[in-house]
This record gives sequence, C-alpha cells and structure tokens, in this order.
Amino acid sequence: ATALAAVVALLAAGCGAIPGSVSSVDEPEFTRELPVPPLAESTVTDGVRTFRLTAQEGTTELLPGVETPTWGFDGPYLGPTLRAERGEKVAVEVANDLDVTTSVHWHGMHLPAAMDGGPHQPVEPGGTWRPTWTIDQPAATLWYHPHPHGETEEHVYRGLAGLFLLDDDASRAADLPREYGVDDVPVVVQDKVLDDDGRLVLTDDGGEPGTLGGTVVTNGVAGAYHQVTTERVRLRLLNGSTARTYSLGFADRDVDLVATDGGLLDAPVRLDQVRLAPGERAEVVVAMSPGETTRLRSAEVDLGGVAAPFAMGGNDAFDVLELRAADELAPSPEPSWRPSEHAAEDALHGEDATVTRTFDLDERTINGERMDAGRIDEVAAVGSTEVWEVRNTIPMPHSFHVHDVQFRVLTIDGQAPPPELAGPKDTVYLEPRRTYRLLMRFEDYADDVLPYMYHCHMLLHEDQGMMGQLLVVEPGSDARPGPSEHLSG
Ligand code: C2O
Ligand code: CU
Repeated sequence: ATALAAVVALLAAGCGAIPGSVSSVDEPEFTRELPVPPLAESTVTDGVRTFRLTAQEGTTELLPGVETPTWGFDGPYLGPTLRAERGEKVAVEVANDLDVTTSVHWHGMHLPAAMDGGPHQPVEPGGTWRPTWTIDQPAATLWYHPHPHGETEEHVYRGLAGLFLLDDDASRAADLPREYGVDDVPVVVQDKVLDDDGRLVLTDDGGEPGTLGGTVVTNGVAGAYHQVTTERVRLRLLNGSTARTYSLGFADRDVDLVATDGGLLDAPVRLDQVRLAPGERAEVVVAMSPGETTRLRSAEVDLGGVAAPFAMGGNDAFDVLELRAADELAPSPEPSWRPSEHAAEDALHGEDATVTRTFDLDERTINGERMDAGRIDEVAAVGSTEVWEVRNTIPMPHSFHVHDVQFRVLTIDGQAPPPELAGPKDTVYLEPRRTYRLLMRFEDYADDVLPYMYHCHMLLHEDQGMMGQLLVVEPGSDARPGPSEHLSG
C-alpha cells in the first residue's frame, strides 16, 4: 500500500520518475514536515549584536526511524540562522564542544581576515573564538561552516553548517515574501551515504568529485514537505553538499530567481531551474495555487561537458522537497524591489580593474600548487579592483570560491554569463575547459600577515589542497608572495 501511495503521489506531483528505474538517489516518501532552523538569539550591548554558537555532537533522524550520529551547532544537526542588518556591529562567540579542532567561516562575508574563520582561526576542543566585525554589504543569504584544513569535508558532511541572513534598506522595502519559516524558507540541500547502522560515511577515497550520496536531505531530513499558506513562497536555496551539483526547479512551473550568492539581482529573472554547485545559493520565488502540491526537484544537471565516467551519478533527476498549498492562500505581491541606497558604492566597474591574475585549475592544484598554510600565493592592494581569469583545464568540474568579496562573472569563454550568474557571486561552478573572468574589489581590511583563502568548494578537492592564500595589504607594503615565517605550516 505504501508503494502504491508513493506512485500515486509521484503521479499527482507530475513527476516522471518511475519507481524502480535506475537512479542512485532514493526517492523517499514526502511525509515529514520541513524543519526550519530557528533564528539565533542575540544580545545587544554597547552597540554590538552578539550571537553564540556551540559545535556539538548529537544524533539526527535524517531518515525516519534511523538514529544517525551527527554534528551541529546548538543542536544535533545544522545550526540556527543568524540574522543581522547592514551597518550593524556583530560578534559571535563560537564554542567547540567537539573533541576535535574545528573553525567557523562566514561564507560570503566581507570582513577582516582575522575574523574570517578559515584555517588560520582554529577553535580547539573546549575553546572559544570571538570574531567581531561590522556588516558592510548588501542583503544576502550567506552561510557559515567549518574550515579546518584537510577536515572541512568531514565537518560539513557531519552537519556543521547554518545560514547567515543579511538585511538592508532594499530587502526590507522589497515586495518579496519575508516571513521567516512561513513564506521565506531556508532550504539547505545535502546528500548523504548511510551505512547499515545509520552512520554517515564518506565514500570518496580520492575519486571524482567526492562523495555522492543516495539520500538527499533538506534541512536535515529526507522526504520533507512544507505547508504553504501564501500565494508565493521564497526559497533560500543553499547547496550545502560536499560534492554534488544540483539543478533545482519544478517540473510543472517556472520560478522567479531574485537573488544569487551575494544578494538581489537588478530584477527578477524567470527560469525553469537553477544549477547550484557546492557552496552556491539562490533565492527563488514560487507561485502556488490553493490546494495544490508540487515538488522542488533536481533535474538532470547539465554539467557542461563533464566526461561521463567522472559524473558518477551526479546528474540524476530526483525530488527534494514537497510544497503543499493550503486551500486558502494569503495574497503575496509580484516580486519587485528598488535598488539599495548603497547601490552606487557597491557597484563594480570593469574599467576600474588594474590587475589581472590567472588561475589554472587542474585535478587538485591551482597554478600547479597545492595549499601550503605557510606560503602566500597572491598579494593584492586594498582598494584595488581586479579581474581573476579562472580556467578549468580538465574534463571535470570545480566550484571556485573567493573569501571576503562578492564578484561579478564578466564572461565565460568570452560570452556574457546567463542571468543566474549575472548577480553578486562568491562561488561559481566551473564547467570543464572553460575560462571565467571574475571582477572583484578588495575594499577594506589590509593585513600584512593573515591571508584570505580562495579554493574549490568541492570539499574533497579543497581538503586535498586545491586552495590558495591571498593577502590584502596597504599599497606600498613589502609583503610578497612566498613562504611566510608568520604563518605556521
Ligand atoms: Cu564556504 Cu572557504 O568556504
Ligand atoms: Cu574542485
């Protein structure tokens, strides 16, 4: 009877998947309410909004009835959603109750390198780290996750990740669904491999592109549904997987893409699906009719010419989240917004670029080098606008991320990017054998010692050394690329 119900549900959802057809991703029943990560509490003293996060162990029912040992912040899996306003001073007390060293990186955040939470800011077991900075960038869906060198894949895979939402004048005045957890819903998509005892396993053993799991979870549960009570719902999509790339959309309707990694687009763009590599985010608005049910799914991903042996099941189609509309829906406006009052200061101009750097990515190196925590790879002057020409030289994909900045994709093999890559980005899927020209500005926070990271966000690749270190220094500083006695190996 359950199988029949599943078939009926699949047909009702207009999904073409045939139970029993070859697919490396399991199709669960969509019977569990989507857990929404709670908004993190904070206290404001002397103008500083302070959050607390504790990394800890626990167990989670990723699959119903199966207790899986996991890690989370302030709970067994994932972490609370931090939220702050442009211009606010924030601090986070990060405590580590694990018995291994971790770190917490604020992915997408513009902030001093000492606050960045990369490999140079470890948090020891029992230790606490207290970064503080001022939010100085547009409203966006950012996220946080560990970044201990060589261990990032495992820490994220076990469950350490959360969202960090930023608001500003434009996002507050926008005609967009904004009731957190109701019509403005975070959706963290991840894939897992569970062994017979329900334990998480990494199966990569060095293979490409890393672990591709047959259990797909949203916000930590497989087979989730969200009860929709409004005519439109905004999904803040995060690909929090270690290796898998998704192409998220609906079989029976288009969505309005409203934001990419670093914030709102100039205007909504109607799309059928949006491809997200590990680390990328997209905000989409979906329209619903009363009483109907539909499913967010990952369509077969156009990996951009990845040689078939390397795709390794990374391009199946499968459902990830069911949306169930109530019989009566509260009205929602058509998505629209006006530019922020900061738009001019935030804008990047290609003609301002004074430096071009090239980065060649092969299987596991960037410009022929693997990560060395004691070596500085690039030195940029604070205030400079640069073009980074990033070339994926092999027939396998990568996902390129730069700390501290939001960049613009100028061109891909000389062509203008598609609309979903035309907004502010901090991470971009690199199709095989293509060249991406990225425009970015290192606005603030010179530091002669501590670098920012740039790396592949396919976390196995990152851990295996596909990462480099960038210093942002005052013009005229004598810091140069090379071994640095200031940085411990
Ligand atoms: Cu999301 Cu350097 O990472
Ligand atoms: Cu990679």
